[in-house]
Amino acid sequence: MTLQIKTLDEYKAAWQRSVDDPEGFWAEQAASFQWRKKWKKVLEWDFEQPDIQWFIGGKLNITENCLDRHLATRGDQTAIRWEPNDPDAPVRSFTYKELHTEVCKAANALKANGIGKGDRVCFYMPMVPELAIAVLACARIGAVHSVVFAGFSATSLADRIKDATCKMVICSDYNDRGPKHIPVKQIVDEALEMGCDSVETVIVHRNTGDALAMVEGRDKWWHDEVNHQSADCPAEEMDAEDMLFILYTSGSTGKPKGVVHTCGGYMVYTCFTFRNAFQYSDGDVFWCTADIGWITGHSYIIYGPLLAGATSVMFEGVPTYPAPDRFWQVCEKHKVNIFYTAPTAIRALMAAGDQWTEPYDLKDIKVLGSVGEPINAEAWHWYDEKIGKKRAPIVDTWWQTETGGILITPLPGITDQKPTFASYPMPGVQPVLVDQFGTEIVGNDVEGMLCIKFPWPSILRTTYGDHERCRQTYFSTFKNRYFTGDGARRDEDGRYRIIGRVDDVINVSGHRIGTAEVENAINEHPDVVESAVVGYPHDIKGQGIYAYVITSHAVGNVDTITKEIRDVVTRIIGPIAKPDIIQIVPGLPKTRSGKIMRRILRKVAEGDTSNLGDTSTLLNPEVVEDIKTGALR
Ligand code: WTA
Repeated sequence: MTLQIKTLDEYKAAWQRSVDDPEGFWAEQAASFQWRKKWKKVLEWDFEQPDIQWFIGGKLNITENCLDRHLATRGDQTAIRWEPNDPDAPVRSFTYKELHTEVCKAANALKANGIGKGDRVCFYMPMVPELAIAVLACARIGAVHSVVFAGFSATSLADRIKDATCKMVICSDYNDRGPKHIPVKQIVDEALEMGCDSVETVIVHRNTGDALAMVEGRDKWWHDEVNHQSADCPAEEMDAEDMLFILYTSGSTGKPKGVVHTCGGYMVYTCFTFRNAFQYSDGDVFWCTADIGWITGHSYIIYGPLLAGATSVMFEGVPTYPAPDRFWQVCEKHKVNIFYTAPTAIRALMAAGDQWTEPYDLKDIKVLGSVGEPINAEAWHWYDEKIGKKRAPIVDTWWQTETGGILITPLPGITDQKPTFASYPMPGVQPVLVDQFGTEIVGNDVEGMLCIKFPWPSILRTTYGDHERCRQTYFSTFKNRYFTGDGARRDEDGRYRIIGRVDDVINVSGHRIGTAEVENAINEHPDVVESAVVGYPHDIKGQGIYAYVITSHAVGNVDTITKEIRDVVTRIIGPIAKPDIIQIVPGLPKTRSGKIMRRILRKVAEGDTSNLGDTSTLLNPEVVEDIKTGALR
């Protein structure tokens, strides 16, 4: 098995070794996996291109490592335990043997429908076991999965299908999520009307069973395609650097980009980080509450836990349904030992009141995790006291879609705890802070932009169909460094605290949203002339979306237009990007070269108008006053 660090000295030694001899260190971690053919060279890299390759020449299939490898030793152990949205509905459990069977059958069904190595398959599905099964089925036959969070709109879904020229879409009929009933397949139908010519087949999983229109020749039922298949499906041999999946994420500019991860490095790194960051031991029950539509779900619901032979819980619902004690009830019911969630959920449950946690003793919880956004001190302490009862260490794990796995985190029970600090780099990770000129800021008790100066095995390889964009976004800002887009501080002992994005990305409830994307959506409203979107501090969501909008004529009713704008954004991107505050303004502060001065807009959105800095160089300084006073036109 991959190394599991147990003491502070072991951590220090492992980190040092990973820096002094990265190839030796990672070769050892990779050795415990099942390779069809061993690699010839561990690493080749060049951040200029970028061209990064790990385990060169190695051949493998990640599902053999997630499933087949465990059959002899833990075939009857539960791999996935699924908790439905409705607390009274039956739990579904899959042992490693059963999951293996289901994945093989689904893989055969994909093959029977013309899917083969390298083909892209899009997923638009709720959190049901068939999602995990079908994702693994893709990986088994070498097809590339592109999972789209099922909260995105038809337009967003269509954009992603087109960008990756997906041959198939796998979806559900409907989804009951919290109290909502969502017509999933209907959204897929709408998306497919937007020029997704590459899609030949839609496989529909019957989830709620409500009536549904199927398109003859294109749409097929999961049960018709999968149930009769053989449970024997030899895995496709993949090169370590063959594509495993694409996952779209937002950046400062343009449309979301498809982050590409490959088979070998991703496998080694997700397993390594899962075992170490959570200190998973055999028999533990692990629960990550993320959605598989995001990287956290890919790496720590599907791949990491299965690679490590863990038992993990997959949850269909939301933290507040039917009441704000649902998480704690599920923890108790499934005897969860390691619980991993997002600060936004913690804050929402904290706001609901302690009475919701009190009936639960949560004695099985050993480790608590946090991910997706900075955790504020108040939420950290509440999590520690009410959920961890001050006996479960909290791991504040910092990472990104692009990093594939956790890069900076405390190791529970091993490194010390400091609230709100993601603390120390994982072995293999070499963070640096730089100033705006790219000069490395050395020493401790300093702040700067967070970069990584050496590749780790699951660093992104490219952005799908547009390598230049990958280079520009991540590798061109600072020479020879991967730029994270985050600002961070390093304390006197070398611990890192992530401050937040330094680019035009806002983090709303742990979801990354590009301000440009929201602006483009708002501008689709026929009465909107121009808009500017910024983030502002929000008690529950971490950041909220604040939109300044110029309209083409005097607005009669502000409520009407703001509602219409929200609807447009929901239609184009999805409800997660809906602005929280919309301010109709007569103009936007611009520099003489016509650039919007977001700094000023951010200050006003934060409610801090006392020190707006120098506005004299603006083209239109008078609008600042109008914006401050809320003048409409
Ligand atoms: C933010 C999620 C502070 C950060 C895994 C990063 C965090 C972005 C943390 C990536 C954390 C993630 N503390 N900020 N522990 N974890 N972030 O791609 O701004 O959805 O750049 O990946 O979330 O979001 P993504």
